[in-house]
Amino acid sequence: MRVLTGIQASGKLHIGNYFGAMKPMIELQEEHELFTFIANYHSLTSSKDAQTLKQYTIDAAVDYLSLGLDPQKTTFWVQSDVPEVLELYWILSKFTPMGLLERAHSYKDKVAKGIPASHALFSYPVLMAADILMLDTQKVPVGKDQIQHVEMTRDIATKFNNEYGAIFTLPEHIVQEEVATIPGIDGQKMSKSYNNAIDLFMAEKPLQKRCNKILSSSTPLGEPLEHAGCHIYNLAALFLDEAGKAELQARYKSGKEGYGHFKKYLKELIWEELGEAREKREYYLSHMDEVHDILAMGAKRAQTVAQAKMAQVRDAVGL
Ligand code: ADP
Ligand code: TRP
Repeated sequence: MRVLTGIQASGKLHIGNYFGAMKPMIELQEEHELFTFIANYHSLTSSKDAQTLKQYTIDAAVDYLSLGLDPQKTTFWVQSDVPEVLELYWILSKFTPMGLLERAHSYKDKVAKGIPASHALFSYPVLMAADILMLDTQKVPVGKDQIQHVEMTRDIATKFNNEYGAIFTLPEHIVQEEVATIPGIDGQKMSKSYNNAIDLFMAEKPLQKRCNKILSSSTPLGEPLEHAGCHIYNLAALFLDEAGKAELQARYKSGKEGYGHFKKYLKELIWEELGEAREKREYYLSHMDEVHDILAMGAKRAQTVAQAKMAQVRDAVGL
């Protein structure tokens, strides 16, 4: 099964991103033919400046590789390194009724949030359709907000195929299984915009400090604690199997330990879970040439598939 995922790089990642998005995505490579790219043409629609876009792009590459994306199993590249997608974007534009784009929720949401209403933002779904169709993608794992874009891709592909023959594979979305919303240090949804996130790659001391800031009740030391509804417990549980959770619940009940102990324990869990990733990350950060080589290899692989498809498309439409 060919699966395509597109990553919007937007800076530092936190534990909510890790459990909600990155970990499940990286696991797909074990069972599928996974294609993953960093959608920097898309990010351009909301980019502040050149330096930030470049930095976010390369940071995302380093982070995904560090967390276990295997460039031997997964074709991993930066979108703008396979510019064929822009030619397809133009061709597909002819098969995209204005009304289809006018109905896109994501465009309206972004404009409501203050992103300037440019043509690039408006036609964003056509570029996404090109990403998907160019590689004969069968499945596209997406968050709920992106389902409409995959449906639009099917509409565009169907129109094209009706006119020129069965050139494009119709993709299906997979909605990633609902990962419970991961709480931040204040118990609200962890998000970089709420200043309540625990970043993935913090140094040990700041990480402990961040964990110490998790909001907890004020039960005095020596009394049994309630694990249900405790943000420290809920975060720790992400790292534990059933036996580990039962053990932690027993520690809460025993009354022998206070929240300070559990905050230390949580820090250790995070620190340990990310140990291997941290080492890999340090390695990649001091061997950036390797990161660039990996992305170049991925771009070459993606380009081979893209060029074969584009030859068919150009021929079909008479270019
Ligand atoms: P943020 O809210 O920090 O800006 P994004 O919107 O960039 O995060 O989310 C990137 C990915 O991480 C999405 O797939 C989203 O579903 C997932 N994600 C972000 N925060 C959480 C969270 N608190 N719990 C579960 N998943 C999350
Ligand atoms: N629009 C997607 C997002 O905001 C990113 C993306 C671009 C994408 N092209 C794609 C995702 C193709 C899957 C397939 O998250």
